Amino acid sequence: MIVNETNTIKKNNELTFFLNGEKKVIKDPNPELTTLQYIRSIGLTGSKLGCGEGGCGACTVMISHRNDSDGRIVHRAVNSCLYPLCQLDGMALVTIEGLGNVRDGLHPVQERIAEGYGSQCGFCTPGIIMALYAYLRSNPNANQKEIEHNFDGNLCRCTGYRPILDAAKSFAIDKTTDEQDEDGDVKIPTIAKIEDDDTKTDSEPGICPSSGKPCNCKQKTSHIPSKPLELKSEPIFPPFLMDYKKESLVFQGDRVTWHTPTSLNEILTIKKTHSNAKIVVGNTEIGIETKFRNVVYPTIISPVRVPELNSIQKQQDGILVGSSVTLTELKSFLLGEIKSDGASDDQKTKVGTFKAIVSQLKWFAGNQIRNAASIGGNLVTASPISDLNPVLLAAGAILTMVSQDESGTIVERKVPIGSFFLKYRIVDIKPEEILQSVFIPYTRPLEFVQAYKQSRRREDDIAIVSCCFRILFENFENNQFKVRECVLAYGGMNVKAVTCQNTEQFLIGSIWDRNQLDEIYKKLEVDLPLAQGAPGGMIEYRRSLTTSFFFKYFLTVSKQLYEISKNPSYSLSDKELSVTAPYSRPLSKGQQEYQTQPEKHPITQPVIHQSADKQVTGEALYVDDIKIKSLYTCFVQSTKAHAKILSIDASRALKAPGVKAFYSAKDVPGENNCGPVIKDDEVFASDIAIFHGAPIGCIVAETHQQALEASKMVQIEYEELPAIVTIEDAIAKKSFFPFTHVIKDGDIVKGFEESDHIIEGEFKCGAQEHFYLEPNGSLVVPGEGKEMTIYASTQNPTKTQGIVASVLGVPQNQVVCKLKRLGGGFGGKETRSIFSTCVAAVAAYHQREPVRIILDRDTDMATTGTRHPFIAKYKVGVTKDGLIKALDLELYADAGYSYDISVGVLDRAIFHSENAYKIPNVNVVGRLCKTNLPSNTAFRGYGGPQAMIIVENWVEKISKVLNIESHIIRAKNFYKEGELTHYLQAVENNQMQRVWDTILEKSNYLERINKVNDFNEKNRWKKRGIAVIPTKFGMSFTVKTLNQAGALVHCYTDGTVLVTHGGTEMGQGLNTKMIQIAARAFGIPVKDVFISETSTDKVANTTPTAASVSSDLNGMAVLDACQNILKRLEPLKEKNPNMTFKQLCIEAFVQRVNLSSNGFYATPNVGYVFKDGGVGEGTPFNYFNFGAACSEVEIDVLTGDHTVLRSDVILDVGDSLNPTIDIGQVEGAFVQGMGWSCTEEVVTFPTGYLFTRGPSTYKIPGFNDVPLEFNVSLLNDAPNPKAIHSSKGVGEPPLFLGSSVYFAIRQAITAARKETNLNDWFDLPSPATCERIRTSCLDSFIYQFTNNKN
Ligand SMILES: Cc1cc2nc3c(=O)[nH]c(=O)nc-3n(C[C@H](O)[C@H](O)[C@H](O)COP(=O)(O)OP(=O)(O)OC[C@H]3O[C@@H](n4cnc5c(N)ncnc54)[C@H](O)[C@@H]3O)c2cc1C
Ligand code: FES
Ligand code: FES
Repeated sequence: MIVNETNTIKKNNELTFFLNGEKKVIKDPNPELTTLQYIRSIGLTGSKLGCGEGGCGACTVMISHRNDSDGRIVHRAVNSCLYPLCQLDGMALVTIEGLGNVRDGLHPVQERIAEGYGSQCGFCTPGIIMALYAYLRSNPNANQKEIEHNFDGNLCRCTGYRPILDAAKSFAIDKTTDEQDEDGDVKIPTIAKIEDDDTKTDSEPGICPSSGKPCNCKQKTSHIPSKPLELKSEPIFPPFLMDYKKESLVFQGDRVTWHTPTSLNEILTIKKTHSNAKIVVGNTEIGIETKFRNVVYPTIISPVRVPELNSIQKQQDGILVGSSVTLTELKSFLLGEIKSDGASDDQKTKVGTFKAIVSQLKWFAGNQIRNAASIGGNLVTASPISDLNPVLLAAGAILTMVSQDESGTIVERKVPIGSFFLKYRIVDIKPEEILQSVFIPYTRPLEFVQAYKQSRRREDDIAIVSCCFRILFENFENNQFKVRECVLAYGGMNVKAVTCQNTEQFLIGSIWDRNQLDEIYKKLEVDLPLAQGAPGGMIEYRRSLTTSFFFKYFLTVSKQLYEISKNPSYSLSDKELSVTAPYSRPLSKGQQEYQTQPEKHPITQPVIHQSADKQVTGEALYVDDIKIKSLYTCFVQSTKAHAKILSIDASRALKAPGVKAFYSAKDVPGENNCGPVIKDDEVFASDIAIFHGAPIGCIVAETHQQALEASKMVQIEYEELPAIVTIEDAIAKKSFFPFTHVIKDGDIVKGFEESDHIIEGEFKCGAQEHFYLEPNGSLVVPGEGKEMTIYASTQNPTKTQGIVASVLGVPQNQVVCKLKRLGGGFGGKETRSIFSTCVAAVAAYHQREPVRIILDRDTDMATTGTRHPFIAKYKVGVTKDGLIKALDLELYADAGYSYDISVGVLDRAIFHSENAYKIPNVNVVGRLCKTNLPSNTAFRGYGGPQAMIIVENWVEKISKVLNIESHIIRAKNFYKEGELTHYLQAVENNQMQRVWDTILEKSNYLERINKVNDFNEKNRWKKRGIAVIPTKFGMSFTVKTLNQAGALVHCYTDGTVLVTHGGTEMGQGLNTKMIQIAARAFGIPVKDVFISETSTDKVANTTPTAASVSSDLNGMAVLDACQNILKRLEPLKEKNPNMTFKQLCIEAFVQRVNLSSNGFYATPNVGYVFKDGGVGEGTPFNYFNFGAACSEVEIDVLTGDHTVLRSDVILDVGDSLNPTIDIGQVEGAFVQGMGWSCTEEVVTFPTGYLFTRGPSTYKIPGFNDVPLEFNVSLLNDAPNPKAIHSSKGVGEPPLFLGSSVYFAIRQAITAARKETNLNDWFDLPSPATCERIRTSCLDSFIYQFTNNKN
């Protein structure tokens, strides 16, 4: 106990809480620590750091406390990366380690996610499990829909979400019996756990547990119980905390003092003496400020124990909400009030504003944020894009400020919310004051309140524009209604939330009349000006939303007035009605269909992911989890896009706490110049900083945080140089890398002569950030002499080994690179991971100590490059009945500042520039643009998707010009068996037509076109579109050398096998497939085969795990190694035919037979060499992969929002090695492709500064973006003679199929444009963001704000 100077209250300086059931008492904890920093520092590394800004959910933990008012135990999922450690006093904290573990058994939640294939790379998994667990603890009787909507605070980049949702919904009380087997267990498509002995060969036909259709797989349904969580077997809330005395606390840190007072008087006393003290409730604003803006607040006050700030009281005319009430508590209170069962009319009338708040809270952040964030925090932050502030403005809330006067008396000051927001993030609150409460008035009869919000992604995204309207009417005469009071409040249109006084004045006293709408829109235009170039951009779009939202409100209110009055002037036409329906998302569903061949098991068997159990328990280790004590390093980055470095001064940084050193180019012991192919990159910029974010040096310190803070203190002087930061600018200035690749086939001139139509155009598709959940990280450990061991999250261990050796000036044989797994890669860690590893290696070299580098999410996004954006200029010749005759194409890819592997990306684009179509006369030219942007790199599909989306765009244009439906054009032009591509490779084993026919049939496409048309006829402001898209994808590295792999197999005398191969496991299930191959070869159960790691000292000279061929290559190498051993065992087997594998191994050892072998494979007959004349040599691909998808969407014409109603996908993967893993790849890739073509927009400012550098600004698809119906099937009976066990690679080909959503959106926009008689072609760059969708649906709302007026 210490006595605080500010008053005489005794305050405790011990933080007491329970961690996974164990009591923890920490004396004077560091107030700057987040819960995540603390738990990871004590070795609980299951909770992951994915973003550090509350946007990904990887760090989710459960906190529980006893509610003082009613004694309830409240369980909440929160983001531990933001939740302050000091806030935990009196709480129970449960991390993933507090559930189950591999040795003692998994918790049911962990088990169902693992067995339901809900974990691929596993980095997101602990957070998802904790979000589900916390939800089920609080809501054991949740139904499927409630469970499905609980994941808005979590992201996963691998799975496409469907398997996670299926597993999670097995806990719902309404899981229907038709989804269960006779034991009441849910049929999740999980067949064999890796422990199972799965060598059955019975081939009696039966019902497939996966597809629910007859087949002869005889798979065993895994018995995943479909039962709610048994609460009685869950750990109880610690009895110690039941009666825990909640005292005042004060914790003294080095820079910050933390206070937790227990009374209003106490908090105000502290505030009076420390007027700069910051109140912290959820820390969801302050946490971001301190992390990203390096702000330190010396005095922090937590108000969570002050009763007046934490209660909600009902009053005569409204409710009084304490400022620290969390958004979840507020929502649950309001829902209680809204509940209409048995409510009086008076009660129903009162809750209009409450409904608006609840509807807005649905879209406010994610669950974990709402569980921590407070209403007061939102108000005082005064963000111009806050969601709640416009609602409270419209509602006419009244805020109460409190302070203490000289005599210690509490002084209250009431502030109407209309005068609270003063300027950008400045509010009317005095230094000594705090916000005590918010009064929210009830609504009255004839008072209508509605809130709206539009953001880039529907869930967990800040608003582009949000608003709330409140109008009170009086019944005038003849059932007409006159406006008595009116507030129209908007966020996102000014530096603060604003109301529209002109419009309000105009409306007050006027009759509610449709004829006034145009005048109202004009007034709104005046009230809500937005100059070109205003922060936030999207000017026309944002302005159009202001009137579109009002129109929605107008219709919604009119509908209600009509119901009251039956006055026909308020009635809506049928076509308008859908505008008034609030957004609701039904339960998603889907089917997965595949074939398995029992006689080949475990090949073709759906064996569970090898490390699923470790991933769901948080035991799976990623680089940042490796328990080797290390120093930390981080980049010192350029703040200019292109500049000469004049001087570097690190003296201040070197004096900062914990800092060990600063290194720059001159400290690189070997070669500073590096690069995966051409050495045009540098570890540290030596003379010129070539992009915004370029590493100029690095700081080494004891902790990551210390290194980060010190890195900002390094002073750099620059001389700025002209910069090119767009692909358009690069083309205009002819800023190209000095080479051009060309392919010419046929006679292009003749082709155009034979064409009836020549169609020309341009298409642009944007970049895509990889957004692997695990950011780049490496740990470099110096050994004896020059030895270095590197643990890296890389797809390319050999290249890492080689480049680090060159940078350090040591031979490759003294550098080892190893890893167990990556938390996602998608191409982003094929080469760009190596640069941060080199920085850690330089630091470790000098320090002679282990050094770790873990890139923060923003640094990762700003430095490691993206998928290449492309611009294409095309000219296509086609006959009048749709036969494509000629293609003349110029492709421009933005490579960024260096080559990296962009040549390969461009080449793949050139190869895929006809997608699945035979074009007899082709001329394709590819160029790489050089810009002052991060070097762009591999991304799943590697240039293929970009080329194919270009193709499908001009196919759509042909369809428009010829007035022939696009699916007919597509089918007419498919390659026939054996036809030659433009690079003169025969398309053999061609499954395109089969795939196409199957998708048309499965999706019922032709029939659904009519239904879509019918819907569009009946709805003016909602439109639907449906599209079916094919893909043909070439399989192999296009660089011949890379098509090789090695493996090392050891058999031990207990009959177990250790496999090592050259590939890396990054969630795609490569290790599982390799295990299946070895198990099959030796005839042993999969449980007897193990893969520990990838390491360059076990398998040397590996090629990157990329191009979807890792199973093909490594699988063959593993098989080769196994066969070598089997050959040696053959004589023993002949002598002892009845020996088991284990006995054979013992016998081999006794007989001195080598039980280890390496294996090797090089794909025969691949390799293509471009020639200047355009006719190259060789064949680039080993085989082709075929697929198709059909998607249907609905767009909201007034906002540009879209929902994917259904997607059907089919892919030819030969005889799938592991069908559920392959289905997982298809689903994950499809959703990634959907993101690429619809929501994921990389935005760079003209200064070269990347704006989209975290989950708050860059929007990958979330749980509720998954198609409402998502059916995935693998093509049956399509063995591939060219790869291991007749299989095909799978990782990349399905990504492009996600663009079927983009093309469906295009159709929906086309339908919307028809309403305004626009039947011409329109360009729609990819991604089809909500802004692009809305502004393409040209109508009066858009015309009002564009020059494009009709
Ligand atoms: C991932 C993420 C998503 C988000 N999404 C949204 C969104 O969709 N919509 C949206 O509007 N916002 C969003 N936010 C912003 C944020 O969550 C809200 O503003 C939240 O309400 C802040 O509450 P808090 O308790 O966490 O505030 P804190 O960070 O604890 O405090 C915020 C500020 O309020 C002050 N403060 C708090 N209480 C008082 C008081 N009683 N008296 C005086 N000052 C006080 C603090 O001193 C501080 O300046 C998001 C934030 C994150 C991190
Ligand atoms: S790490 Fe906490 S939300 Fe991303
Ligand atoms: S499994 Fe979810 S991010 Fe990899």
